[in-house]
Amino acid sequence: MRTQVVIVGAGPAGLLLGQLLHKNGIDNIILERQTAEYVLSRVRAGVIEEVTINLLDQAGVGSRLHRDGLVHGGVQICVDGVRHRIPLLELTGKTVTVYGQTEITKDLMDGRAALGAPTIYAANDVTLHDIFTDAPRVSFRAAGKSSGIVCDFIAGCDGFHGVSRTSVPPGAITAYERVYPLGWLGILTDTPPVADEVFYVRHPRGFALCSMRSPARSRYYIQCGLAEDTDAWPDKRFWEELTPRLDEEARQKLVTGPSIEKSIAPLRSFVAEPMRFGRLFLAGDAAHIVPPTGAKGLNLAASDVNYLSQALVEYYQDKSPAGLEHYSSRALARVWKAERFSWWLTMLLHRISDNPFDHKLQLAELDYLFRSKAAATAFAENYVGLPY
Ligand code: FAD
Ligand code: PHB
Repeated sequence: MRTQVVIVGAGPAGLLLGQLLHKNGIDNIILERQTAEYVLSRVRAGVIEEVTINLLDQAGVGSRLHRDGLVHGGVQICVDGVRHRIPLLELTGKTVTVYGQTEITKDLMDGRAALGAPTIYAANDVTLHDIFTDAPRVSFRAAGKSSGIVCDFIAGCDGFHGVSRTSVPPGAITAYERVYPLGWLGILTDTPPVADEVFYVRHPRGFALCSMRSPARSRYYIQCGLAEDTDAWPDKRFWEELTPRLDEEARQKLVTGPSIEKSIAPLRSFVAEPMRFGRLFLAGDAAHIVPPTGAKGLNLAASDVNYLSQALVEYYQDKSPAGLEHYSSRALARVWKAERFSWWLTMLLHRISDNPFDHKLQLAELDYLFRSKAAATAFAENYVGLPY
C-alpha cells in the first residue's frame, strides 16, 4: 500500500488531521489499535475553545456541535463553600462550548466515512520504519494479516501510550514531566447539572468539578488518591464525598442518581521536545499531557493539528517545506502556555499538601483572582484559549 500521510491513532487529533488533509486533497490512511466502538466509549473532554470549533467547522463536522453544544460565557469557582464567577465573555469577548469528546469523535468518524477515507481499526503491532529517510513505512497486523504502507510522512497521533513517541531514538528526544500525587474519579449521570456553568470547587476535603453534557446529563469529578480503584467507589460513596465539598446552593440543587460511566484519570504534566523527527510528526497527547483542570488537552491536540495540517498543505500545494520546519517550535510555544496554565490551576484548586502554609497561599491567590480584574482577565484569556 502507498499513501501520502499515515496517521497513527483515531482519537480527536488523528481524525481531525485526516479530515483537514482529505479536504485539501492529501491522501491519508488512519491506523487505530482499538475498535471504533471502543474509541467512542472513552468519556473525556468537555470544554471546547472557539479556535477548536473553527477548525471543526473547517473540517466540515461542526454542525451538530453548533446545534447541541452548550455555550458558556462564564465559569464558576467555589472556594470553601463560597461561589465566585469569572465572566469569560465580558473579559475576553469569547465563550467556551461544552460538548463531549465522544460526540466530537463521532462527528469526525461520520465525516470521514462520508468522504470515503480509509481507517483501519483493530490494527495491531503498528511499527514505524525509516522515519529519517524520504520513504518512511508503517507495518501492522489487521484481520490476521500483516501489511505495510509506504508514505511521505507519518503523523503520530496515538496518545500518551502510543508507539510513535517511543519509536524515536532516545538521544533525539527530551521529556519534561511532573506527576501529581492524585487522580480524578469521574462519573457520568443522567441527572440535571447543579449549575448552568462549569463549576470548579476548592475545598479542604479536596477538589471537585461539576460539569455537564446536556441539560439532562451531568459529569462530576472528585480528587482521589493515585492508588484508588473504581470498585471501591460505589455511587453512594461518590455522592457522599462530593456533597460536602459543594456550597449550600449546589447541595440544594444536586440530584443524585446511578452512574452510567465511572473512571479514574491520573494527573500528569508532560512535554516531549521536539515534535518532529525526520518524517515523523507528533501531535496531541502523543507529544504532551496536561492535567485536565484547565480543560486544555483536546484543545491542544486541535492546535497541533492546525499547525501540522497547514504545514502539509503548504508542502503539497506550494512545494514549501517552511511550515514543516517550523511545526515543532510553533506548536510547542502554545503547548507550554497551556502547560503553565493547567499546572497553575491544578496547584491552586487541589489539596496537594498537608502543610497549612500551602493552603493559605492557595486562598490568598484565589482571593487575588476574584478581586483583581487583571488576574481574572489573565485567567479568562487562558481558559477560553489563546489565539493561534
Ligand atoms: P487520544 O484521545 O489518546 O487518541 C489516541 C488514539 O491512538 C487512541 O484512539 C488510541 O487507541 C490510539 N493508539 C494508541 N496506541 C496506538 C498504536 N500503537 N497503534 C495505533 N493506534 C494507537 N481536554 C480538553 O481539551 N478539555 C477537557 O475538558 C478535557 N477533560 C478531560 C477530562 C479527563 C478525565 C481526561 C482523562 C482528559 C481530558 N481532556 C480534556 C484531555 C483530552 O481527552 C485528550 O487530550 C485528548 O483525548 C487527546 O487526543 P489525542 O487524539 O491526542 O489522543
Ligand atoms: C468535563 O466536562 O469533562 C470537564 C470540564 C472541565 C475540565 C475538565 C473536564 O477542566
